[in-house]
Amino acid sequence: MNKPINFFKEKVDELKSKDLNWKLRILSSGSKPNCKVDGKEVIMLCSNNYLGLSEHPKVKEAAMNAIKTHGAGSGSVRAIAGNMDLHKELEETIAEFKGTESALYYQTGFAANAGFLPAFLEQGDLVISDELNHGSIIDGVRLSKAERGIYKHNDMDSLKQILEETEKKKYNKILIVSDGVFSMDGDIAPADKIVALAEQFGVFTYFDDAHGDGVLGKNGRGIANHFNVHGKVDIEMGTFSKAFGVVGGSLAGSKDMTEFAFNKSRTWLLSGSAPPATTAACTAALRVCMEEDELFTKLWNNTNYFKKKLKELGFDTGRSETPITPVMIGESSDAKKFSERLYQEGVFALPIVFPMVAQGKARIRTMITAAHKKEDLDKAIQAFEKIGKELKIIK
Ligand SMILES: Cc1ncc(COP(=O)(O)O)c(C=O)c1O
Repeated sequence: MNKPINFFKEKVDELKSKDLNWKLRILSSGSKPNCKVDGKEVIMLCSNNYLGLSEHPKVKEAAMNAIKTHGAGSGSVRAIAGNMDLHKELEETIAEFKGTESALYYQTGFAANAGFLPAFLEQGDLVISDELNHGSIIDGVRLSKAERGIYKHNDMDSLKQILEETEKKKYNKILIVSDGVFSMDGDIAPADKIVALAEQFGVFTYFDDAHGDGVLGKNGRGIANHFNVHGKVDIEMGTFSKAFGVVGGSLAGSKDMTEFAFNKSRTWLLSGSAPPATTAACTAALRVCMEEDELFTKLWNNTNYFKKKLKELGFDTGRSETPITPVMIGESSDAKKFSERLYQEGVFALPIVFPMVAQGKARIRTMITAAHKKEDLDKAIQAFEKIGKELKIIK
């Protein structure tokens, strides 16, 4: 008889036979441009640490001090005994940074999406989602009882068509939800147009600014600031795990919205609060963003330099408008080979292959940061040129 426990081996074997299993590399240094992966010194080109803040002395110092004053853990969920002054200070700083009335901090961005969306979206509601939205939005929507509409990626005609159809049916409330920056392609949602449609049809808007926070807008204030639609986005969701270099999620908006959110989000209510070091590091990261303008100049200079060089070599960087720079390869097997060769040449960048992206759209996804030096980028570009010619991706 087949033992129940064999389930795992069968499933893992199946993944392996289709080459769909993750092979985890080990980082044995901080997440910085020159780091150690599987024991080898490499240039890091796939970290979301866009501003290099995970290594910033003020961010590290804040984390260490918080351990000294508040200990290693919070001891509880926020709603019981784990609501520290550090959490309150962080939320006030997020609101100050975002220019909103209020903000709420979650343990992760995933927890923010998977907690808020099902709490907000009830039976009789409609959620209209971009077809390329992040998995945490998809899971949040799946947990809700609302009806779903999917519009074509960044296609305002497609969104408008769904909104027009809603006039035939009475929904209690309607929410448009979109990533701010799309993580596979690095393109930006047209938030100004989305907000205009939302105003026209009287519906809510929610932007997941995981890759826009710390990147877009003045000193990284995000997508609403970038498009100058400040105060018109109902819910700005963000994460601290990317440009801010720490971990955690956030919602920014009105005080009523955040109060509703923490009273109703199960991921917030039923999960221990973020430890003191993490919380204090997040506050410090926001302060650094507000103080150090040059980080953003470096980020965009590096991004523009890297993209220009790749394009000059003949590479296709897709529709990227941000530091997320996909280098289009085509076949999944070629993208995997490319990534492996990059590693051999001392550059760490992973392939994104089917089913994460469509068949024939496999790519190497690179992420440029403010911390990269010109020589790091030049070394990476040389490796791209060498391997691109070797694998006949460029001439
Ligand atoms: C668009 C988007 N939303 C949400 C998340 C989840 O954020 P976190 O890492 O804070 O859980 C991610 C991270 O991969 C993301 O890319």
